[in-house]
Amino acid sequence: MTKGIILSGGWGTRLRPLTCTIPKTLMPVVNKPVIERQMQHLKKAGVKEIILAVSVMANDLKNYFQDGERLGIKIHYTNEKDPMGTAGAIKLAESFLKDDNFFMLNGDVILNFDFKDMLKKHETCKATGTIASKIVKDPSRYGVLIDDKNSNQILKFLEKSEYQPLEGKQVPMPINAGVYILEPSIFSYIEPNKRISMERDIFPNLSKERKLYHYPIDGVWKDIGKPEELLEGNILLMNDILKNLKEKRDNLINDNVKLDKSVLIHPPVTIGENVVVEKNCIIGPNVIIGNNVKIDENTEIKESLIYSENNISKNVKIEKSIVSDNCHIKNGAVLEGNENGLVIIASYVQVLENVRIISNSYNSISVCHHEVIKENKISSD
Ligand code: GTP
Repeated sequence: MTKGIILSGGWGTRLRPLTCTIPKTLMPVVNKPVIERQMQHLKKAGVKEIILAVSVMANDLKNYFQDGERLGIKIHYTNEKDPMGTAGAIKLAESFLKDDNFFMLNGDVILNFDFKDMLKKHETCKATGTIASKIVKDPSRYGVLIDDKNSNQILKFLEKSEYQPLEGKQVPMPINAGVYILEPSIFSYIEPNKRISMERDIFPNLSKERKLYHYPIDGVWKDIGKPEELLEGNILLMNDILKNLKEKRDNLINDNVKLDKSVLIHPPVTIGENVVVEKNCIIGPNVIIGNNVKIDENTEIKESLIYSENNISKNVKIEKSIVSDNCHIKNGAVLEGNENGLVIIASYVQVLENVRIISNSYNSISVCHHEVIKENKISSD
């Protein structure tokens, strides 16, 4: 095994408006694109060449990764004019992947587990495919795997929404974690030049033929399909990175960050390169700030993601929010979401002085890219 394919061509509709300017798989998680972190895991497991199956915003991905030299892994691209579905996408890479088993990843999952061990288990069970699985408390939002508990053979593969809990009670179940090892024989199941889904059209049949196994993972795993999951996944990964550091640290703060000595940091906090934080700011807990961000006096930020190149003025309050890149949040503005409804600000937005954007409801409030917000937006149920 020396090859892998990462699916990176979906629309990312649930993450709009963030995905109007940034492809989902390039979304930063702890200041690095989610897909770049996956490539590092593949490289560690011995993968030397990767195909990126791109479609929507393909050029952004090609420009970012080019031929992969910077990451020390060879990167090729497939070309889907319109998204061909998860199986249709890999069918296009058949000639590249036909000689040996290979990893296939959904490019939108945060993970940290031992890929090499998964490969070892796959090779011993002689399956056509092994699916990484994660036990979750509420399986109904995911593809659910009904298994033989002794062998981990998959008896039934249920796609999202097909799973009905017994008597309506949720019990923890293994779900499809979006990482697979497949044998080249998989290609004989996929018709060419058709939009086909692995999860809906291929895996249910393979499980009927008893050719699928699963590999339970115990490390960090989070799919970043929705904004709340993106925020949660960032915090989860930040804690995982901190936990695994050789030297114990409470925060991940770049050496060249300029923090005024009066600034209060409540861990855990991540701050990228060339960030300036002025007097009396309070940052954290659970805040991740990208590169080249300026934060002016008396500003408070907690439980939020602030991407790169942002300008956050004085006396601003930000909580349970995601602020994409190149925004200007002006003096006295308030962005305040809650557990269920975040405030989501897409790229190149200006929020003018003293404007309050507050979600008091189950729904997030989103601002589209390049908008200038002059008036309050306050939601309630
Ligand atoms: P939503 O529109 O919010 O559902 O997001 P999505 O389009 O990314 O779909 P989904 O979350 O199901 O996709 C899982 C992974 O597969 C992501 O990394 C997508 O980029 C990728 N993906 C989904 N559909 C396609 C496709 O048709 N072609 C390719 N190349 N990748 C796809």
